[in-house]
Amino acid sequence: MVLTNFTVIGGPASQSLAKNLAKKLDAKYIRTDVRIFPDGESKVTIDGKPAGKTIVVQSVYPPIDSNFIQVLSLISKAKETSSQVFAVIPYLCYMRQDKEFLPGEIITSAVIAKMLKAVGADKIVTVDIHSELAIKYFDVPIKNVSAVPKLASFFKKMKLRDPLIVAPDLFWAPQAKQFAKILDAESIAINKQRNRKTGKLEIKQSQKRNFEGRDIILVDDMISTGGSVVKATEYLKQQNCGRIYATCTHALLVGDAEKKIRDAGILKIISANTVPGKTNAVDVSDILAKSL
Ligand code: R5P
Repeated sequence: MVLTNFTVIGGPASQSLAKNLAKKLDAKYIRTDVRIFPDGESKVTIDGKPAGKTIVVQSVYPPIDSNFIQVLSLISKAKETSSQVFAVIPYLCYMRQDKEFLPGEIITSAVIAKMLKAVGADKIVTVDIHSELAIKYFDVPIKNVSAVPKLASFFKKMKLRDPLIVAPDLFWAPQAKQFAKILDAESIAINKQRNRKTGKLEIKQSQKRNFEGRDIILVDDMISTGGSVVKATEYLKQQNCGRIYATCTHALLVGDAEKKIRDAGILKIISANTVPGKTNAVDVSDILAKSL
């Protein structure tokens, strides 16, 4: 594919993914640098002058607010000299805050949408956005692509014992089903409830299945603290299942999440490379390239 008119700017948080994308699009690549001041401010610089259609690539994983201000700054800078600016934000933060669940809460997903438009994004591309509802707060075109088929294909190559695909909550039941279809396996969703005030997780019930000795693949959009997959693991172990794997698009793995997940008995975490880390096994640059 030759798109000579494309320039890719690799944001400080996503240089490697941005380089892969530039290669796939045969686009000019502009690198960036960031200095973090002692008070936490980000000073971003770009190493070239974007022109034509410019793609800014920056995932917004922790430190979320810093990475977000950096992507806003890059879009704004690109807009000065480009005809159009596409913001590729593989992990788009704040999409869990899509409703006023308790009085006084702010729909921060809508605030994020407004800011991206204000700095000049003409189109946004993201991967496995947490909330379909949040999409309606964007009044610039937004394309949500999925890493699920590639994650499933990764597992298809493994030798698994009668695998059961499990969504740790009801929201990802359709994606678990899609994943299972690729493996020609069954899927279920666990009914996980989170106390809105304390954040405490509870499992209400699960669909009845025979778990005995079966390999489990827990599939979710993101793993942040690991609380959800650990809770699901405790439940599944009580049912005498076999090995447990966890897979997700966005492996944020904050704090000691990895240790907690390992200690709970999950054998391996497999993720896409929307958030760089050692659990990355699936590259999304080709999916992103197709969406542009
Ligand atoms: C929740 O609805 C999401 O899909 C994830 O299950 C959740 O955000 C993961 O967070 P944690 O790893 O902290 O439980």
